[in-house]
Amino acid sequence: GGVFTFDPGYTSTASCESTITFIDGEKGELLHRGYPIDQLAEKSHFLEVCYLLLYGDLPTPAQLEDFEFRVTNHTMLHEQMTYFFRGFRRDAHPMAIMVGVVGAMSAFYHDSTDITDPWQREVASIRLIAKMPTIAAWAYKYHIGQPFVYPRNDLDYAANFLRMCFAVPAEEYEVNPILSRAMDRIFTLHADHEQNASTSTVRLASSSGANPFACIAAGIACLWGPAHGGANQACLEMLREIGTPDQIPEYIERAKDKDDPFRLMGFGHRVYKNFDPRAKVMKQSADEVLELLGIEDNPTLQTAKELERIALEDDYFVDKKLYPNVDFYSGIILDAMGFPTSMFTPIFALARTVGWISQWKEQLSDPAHKIGRPRQLYCGATRRDYVEVENR
Ligand code: CMC
Repeated sequence: GGVFTFDPGYTSTASCESTITFIDGEKGELLHRGYPIDQLAEKSHFLEVCYLLLYGDLPTPAQLEDFEFRVTNHTMLHEQMTYFFRGFRRDAHPMAIMVGVVGAMSAFYHDSTDITDPWQREVASIRLIAKMPTIAAWAYKYHIGQPFVYPRNDLDYAANFLRMCFAVPAEEYEVNPILSRAMDRIFTLHADHEQNASTSTVRLASSSGANPFACIAAGIACLWGPAHGGANQACLEMLREIGTPDQIPEYIERAKDKDDPFRLMGFGHRVYKNFDPRAKVMKQSADEVLELLGIEDNPTLQTAKELERIALEDDYFVDKKLYPNVDFYSGIILDAMGFPTSMFTPIFALARTVGWISQWKEQLSDPAHKIGRPRQLYCGATRRDYVEVENR
């Protein structure tokens, strides 16, 4: 019984109260705990933003040092987890490996699965944030058939990740500071985004009392789809397929054609009806990084900029308020760093983990939280009597 509203896609349902992230979609504004994303991207760094999201305020120097120490202390994976990686086919998508390995963490870290214990919740949070770069890097190494590279805790979070992805044992590997700063900024830009599909998935999974690793695995699974985090891979593949600016009008026409399922990847957003502020920073970052690397005449970047220009002048995109989103320029930077497109979404997952965890912690500490249980409008058959198989 009871009255409820029909809201497919939850376009007008607030599922929780939250103090973490604020988005003004009309203005194109994104705030974490009140701080604008462009200030955080420029002046802060990923682990500081992690602290901000998790605990509500920017850390003091001592708090930051303590937090960085705790994260760094947990970067290693249980050695037996290497067998989990080895159980996958080599051609497995790294996201498939991550869903499996993160879910399997619940079988390894028994002292951080009791969600009623605040200390265990804290340890689970730190473990997930600390181990995600190792998991993503190992998914990549396994996929390309190279040996796993162990974390090196004298490096910062982004540099350590790059090294685990690109170093080869017995060979020197210096992390390029331009790349590690750009990597850190990409992490920062993806850290949280309030109640998007994967975050809502984490909250819904957790509402039953499921363990944290299972909940984050559910979030990773949801993120994978091309309408969500999978858009960064799909976007770069689309830009490559377009190839040269003269091909752009054809793709624009296809995106507008209702009979063609093709959409411009990296364009449009449920909440932003203006520029995605993350895309603005990402575009600027793409310019900077490619210039510093001396590859500013990158054809994919030229195609992306031209596509953006044409789309933003086209009535279809103007009327529907479709602007570039975070996924539009990130792939160009990741590609310049040497990542294959299959690693783009794992990098998104790695960075979003802190957002998922912050939202999960907030939900568990809310005394009013209850199991998520949407209703439906039933449109099926009315009551009818069973018919024996020989009489059908
Ligand atoms: N290209 C062409 N048309 C589009 C696009 C696009 N990228 N996005 C939306 N539209 C049209 C859509 O066809 C619809 O037209 P109509 O009203 O005539 O039926 C209208 O715009 C509204 O679209 P919608 O699908 O009802 O909007 P939504 O809020 O349900 O979807 C979205 C949001 C992000 C899934 C969608 O814009 C999309 O598929 N974009 C491409 C994939 C993408 O870039 N996703 C990344 C999102 S940002 C961060 C992240 O999660 O990774």
